[in-house]
Amino acid sequence: ETPQPADLIVFGGTGDLSMRKLLPALYHADRDGRLAPETRVIAMSRGGLDDADFRGKVDAEVRGSVPVDDLDTWQRFLGRLHHVTVDIAGQDPTGWARLAGMLGGYEHRDRVFYLASPPMTFGPFCREAHRAGLVTPASRVVLEKPLGRDLSSALRINDEVGAIFEERQIYRIDHYLGKETVQNLLVLRFANAFLEPIWNSLWIDHVQITVAETVGTPGRRGYYDHAGALRDMVQNHLLQLLCLVAMEPPSRNDRESIRDEKVKVLQSLRAVTGGEVDRFTVRGQYTAGESGGVRVPGYLDEPDNTAPTENSRRVETFAAIRAEVKNWRWAGVPFYLRTGKRMPNRCSEIVVQFKDVPHSIFPGSTPNRLVLRLQPSEGIQLNIMAKEPGAGEVALKPVPLSLSFAETFTGRVPEAYERLLLDVLTGNPTLFMRRDEVEAAWRWIDPILDEWDSQGTPPEPYPAGTAGPAAAHELVGRSGRVWHEEG
Ligand code: BG6
Repeated sequence: ETPQPADLIVFGGTGDLSMRKLLPALYHADRDGRLAPETRVIAMSRGGLDDADFRGKVDAEVRGSVPVDDLDTWQRFLGRLHHVTVDIAGQDPTGWARLAGMLGGYEHRDRVFYLASPPMTFGPFCREAHRAGLVTPASRVVLEKPLGRDLSSALRINDEVGAIFEERQIYRIDHYLGKETVQNLLVLRFANAFLEPIWNSLWIDHVQITVAETVGTPGRRGYYDHAGALRDMVQNHLLQLLCLVAMEPPSRNDRESIRDEKVKVLQSLRAVTGGEVDRFTVRGQYTAGESGGVRVPGYLDEPDNTAPTENSRRVETFAAIRAEVKNWRWAGVPFYLRTGKRMPNRCSEIVVQFKDVPHSIFPGSTPNRLVLRLQPSEGIQLNIMAKEPGAGEVALKPVPLSLSFAETFTGRVPEAYERLLLDVLTGNPTLFMRRDEVEAAWRWIDPILDEWDSQGTPPEPYPAGTAGPAAAHELVGRSGRVWHEEG
């Protein structure tokens, strides 16, 4: 498929996300010949840069992080970049006028507005872009997560954006959906016959979804104090993973069928409210400890240009929840979710723990377990029982059937953002969140946030480099289960 010329306008284009993820992803796409020669990338920020300044900044900050094997390709990429200074409050219309000048005459091209900015800017940006006459029928808008900070703000933002763009033009990004292994989950489930018949409460004891990071939050206090693990990770990434594990088989692999099934899962989540919140959720905040062999400060002492506030004391850097999907397939199967900063290892995985055989004729058998490893080393592992060789009594041993993607498939694995940006450019929203999905996710998260807020107590401390507060172990331990330790 020949790529069509497009104009990609990145609001917040000089920010962290743009420099670390979007521009490298675009460079890779360019290098692979997936951008049309005419395609332009126009960064918008308050920065007061001209095109040359911006190209210089990208040359200095991005070039080192991508493979530049020939300078011509890199120069070609830099040549696509432009910068426009704007003031979102609309006080100074010159930036918008300049952007309108650049886009004028190119109305037939695909036009993508990528909002890599805080959610409260989404509505105002769309209004200003509309006022400047920039929103064409072929325009799309990409919204970064988190979309709002609760259900009511999400509804408002969706209304504001929806007043300017039609739903088919709106791409709400959750970069986890662009990860290769996450997409592979659908293939594993729906392109193989053997799993689906046992993918239910008759055969599955429980599911664990873990996204553990070793990083802390240095320099992110301004954002993180108002987010916390529940808004930053659970509302989006973890719930999306849960949807892919729990959804019914869609009838087609298309934009609406898959999203229809995902939203049904979110709507089937059993509400966790009031007094149950303490029983089914755990929140923690890291204190000083050791991470990767070095002493690291606690959340409150992370270096930052703002001092910790009351919010900092109350924000969670770890969250664990026992969720339940109330439908025929999953009744009674707990879905344990957990995510945290400053965990012992970087590890994202989905663990499906099967029940034991209905009737065991061998002593020492243990139930099967399927581990879907998302990162760092993508793979799938199924623990099966085997007989240890030997002539004496039958001795059993769980052994792994193991698939490593890196060993099986050679070649570069594209980053999530690359895949998703190309999907936006070609107009494929399947891997983006629809309005009803985001709202259903907030509807489930809201009562938990409310209860945590009204308690006013700080999260439980856990030393950096450990797997969260003790209560997280009790959450699964109460029913005789344990968290899967990788390895
Ligand atoms: C982002 C969160 O959405 O995901 C960050 O805002 C988090 O806090 C990041 O570190 C994790 O993404 P990945 O791809 O590194 O697992």
